[in-house]
Amino acid sequence: MKLVKVTPHYKPGISLVQLNRPKELNALNSKVMQSLRDHLTSLDQDPKVKVIILTGNEQAFAAGADIKEMSDKGAIEMLKIDQFKTWDQIRKIQKPIIAAVSGFALGGGCELAMTCDMIIASESAKFGQPEIKIGVMPGAGGTQRLTRAVGKVRAMELVLTGKFISADEALQFGLVNKVVPVESCLHEAVKLATAIAKMPSVAVRLAKESINQAFETHLDEGLQFERKNFYLLFASKDQKEGMRAFIDKRDPDFEGD
Ligand code: CAA
Repeated sequence: MKLVKVTPHYKPGISLVQLNRPKELNALNSKVMQSLRDHLTSLDQDPKVKVIILTGNEQAFAAGADIKEMSDKGAIEMLKIDQFKTWDQIRKIQKPIIAAVSGFALGGGCELAMTCDMIIASESAKFGQPEIKIGVMPGAGGTQRLTRAVGKVRAMELVLTGKFISADEALQFGLVNKVVPVESCLHEAVKLATAIAKMPSVAVRLAKESINQAFETHLDEGLQFERKNFYLLFASKDQKEGMRAFIDKRDPDFEGD
C-alpha cells in the first residue's frame, strides 16, 4: 500500500497529495515523511502544477509523529536520524500548499498543516500539540509556528496542556482559513487552489517566499526582501500582460513567464 497517494493533475494546475496510513491515523513515520518530501519536490518541479493540496482522510489528517517509531530512541540516536531534515525540505517547496484537514491534526500533524501555506478545515477537525502528555514537546516547528499563528498565550495553553481545539476555535484563533462541512472540505480547497492557479506563477512564487520571509527577519530586512522581489517581477512577461490587460479592460492571459 502506498503511504502517500498522489494525483499530479487532479484538476487543471492542481495536484492532490493524500497521506495514506489510515490504520495508524496517518502517524508520520520516517517513510511517510520521506515519501511526502519526494512527491512534493517532484511536483514543485512540474511546470504544469501550480498549487498542491495536501490531505488525509475523514478520521485524521495526521495524529502526529509516529510514537512507536520514536519511543525507544535515545537523544543521540534521534540527533543522528535527524528526522526534521525532511521537514526543512518540505518547508522549502516553492509552490503554494493548501492543507485540507478533517479529523485529527495533532502534534506533527498540526505542525505539518501549519507548514502548509493555508488550511481549509472540516467541522470535524481537531487541532492540538499533545506532545507534553507523552513527555516531550513539539519538535517540528510547533512552538514557533503556533505562536506566530495564534499568539503567545494561546500557544502556551495548547502546548503546556496538550488540549485539543475544534475547527471553529482554530478559525477564531486565526489558525485556519475556513471551516466547512466534512463533505465539502476538498471541494473548498480546490476552489481556493483554482483561484491561485489562475494567477501568474512567478508572482505567486515570489509572494509566497516574501510572506514566509516575514517570519525569518526583522521588519526592515523583510521590507527590503519584499521590495526586491517586487522589482524582480517587472522582468516577467506576466507583469507586462497583467498590467496591460488592466489598462485595456480585458482579462489577462498569463503564461507563467
Ligand atoms: N503514533 C503512532 N501510532 C499512532 C499515533 C501516533 N502519533 N496516533 C495514533 N496511532 C495509532 C494507535 O496506536 C492505534 O494503533 P493500534 O490500533 O495498533 O493500537 C491507531 O493509531 C488508532 O489510534 P487509537 O486507538 O488511539 O484511536 P482513538 O480514536 O482512541 O484516539 C487519538 C485517537 C486521540 C488521536 C490518539 O490516537 C492519540 O492520542 N494519538 C497520539 C497523538 C499524539 O500524541 N501526537 C503527538 C505525537 S509526538 C509528535 O508529533 C512530535 C513532533 O512534534 C514531531
